Amino acid sequence: MTVGKAPSSGFQGFDVEAIRRQFPALEQEVHPGKKLVYLDSAATALKPQVVIDAVVNTYAVDCANVHRAVHSLSQRATASYEGARDTIVHFLNAATREEIVFTSGTTDGLNLVAQAFAHRGWDRALTEGDEIVVTELEHHSNIVPWQMLAKRTGAVLKVAPITEAGELRLDDFRAQLGSRTKLCAFAHVSNSLGTLLPVTEMIAAAHEVGALVAIDGAQGVVHQPVDVRALDADFYAFSGHKVYGPTGIGVLYGRKELLEAMPPWRGGGDMIDRVTFRETTWNDLPYKFEAGTPNIAGAIGLGAALEWMMAIGLDRIAAHEAGLLAYGTRRFAELEGVRLIGTAPDKAGVLAFVMDGIHPTDAGSFLDADGIAVRTGHHCAQPVMDRYGVTGTARASLGVYNTEADIDALIEGLKKVRSIFG
Ligand SMILES: Cc1ncc(COP(=O)(O)O)c(C=O)c1O
Repeated sequence: MTVGKAPSSGFQGFDVEAIRRQFPALEQEVHPGKKLVYLDSAATALKPQVVIDAVVNTYAVDCANVHRAVHSLSQRATASYEGARDTIVHFLNAATREEIVFTSGTTDGLNLVAQAFAHRGWDRALTEGDEIVVTELEHHSNIVPWQMLAKRTGAVLKVAPITEAGELRLDDFRAQLGSRTKLCAFAHVSNSLGTLLPVTEMIAAAHEVGALVAIDGAQGVVHQPVDVRALDADFYAFSGHKVYGPTGIGVLYGRKELLEAMPPWRGGGDMIDRVTFRETTWNDLPYKFEAGTPNIAGAIGLGAALEWMMAIGLDRIAAHEAGLLAYGTRRFAELEGVRLIGTAPDKAGVLAFVMDGIHPTDAGSFLDADGIAVRTGHHCAQPVMDRYGVTGTARASLGVYNTEADIDALIEGLKKVRSIFG
């Protein structure tokens, strides 16, 4: 796969029906007569045929390990795997392919960064009294690794609060920063509220005090074009499965000079240059951070997914989803006894809500009976639930294939739930 190559199913314009036809999962009836209405893309996105084909082809035809053999299958698998890396360079506008590390997902990427900050062999490693700043709206993946890091190093974890609407105000963020701040970690887009954070300004503020910044881009890459160089991000992590790619694959972008200075995390095959019992030296970037046989089919599938998104146009996807979000927000106003949680003006793809007297799980189960898939629970963001005094919410989240008809089905479904519960 090479940068800019159009998928076999290329697009001329944004035609949501043509897009929908590429998702086999959308053809199913979840229950007799109940066609799938998929509103859970923030948990994982459905996969277009082009991604499924890329994965199947890897196992059915180009089934070999990468970087290890001269035979044709291995050469082809390696070319596709490294081609996927080139696609990601282009997708994120990274400076070089050495900055793109394949991981198993956002969680893995953030943990890789956290491990490095605990390693004495790196001059950026944290020491007692150093400060890490996160925000109140983070996913557990962007809290727990830093909490563990703080415990190991004696650093202090500080939290920038959010407003009632779920916004992150720059002043509140800045108030947490100081001379001891060494690292800031925050989401690009919140999975539980949909808030789009002012990341450019936040990164600049963190850099002003000399801190490095790790961005949790799990939801960020889905809803808008991301340019890591324009953002001036130090680290940016995302997961393949949220961008219409396979599960078990993800990316950590890191600035080259940082990755070069950071010690490797996992030891094993492929990440070495020379091994003796006395000493081992490391491979070049990015392989230093890719120990063992990687998720080859996953990486190739992710490359296919990103090519597919870029062929549609990230701006077009963003505009489609923004239109749906505005429509959904208007239609929610019709519902009595329903409160949207997360009403920031800058928002992407998420309608999270609670219903008076109805547990989110009950609402979710009744919606499922009509084939409507939403997520219910704490969304791996328990501090956000605590902030709003709820144990969980129901969350409808949008993807490229959703339509106003999906929102209508949700609203009708919720009216039905309300009538059942009285
Ligand atoms: C904002 C955010 N961060 C991190 C993650 C973790 O992603 P993964 O489980 O793919 O590692 C998610 C997944 O829901 C997320 O939405």
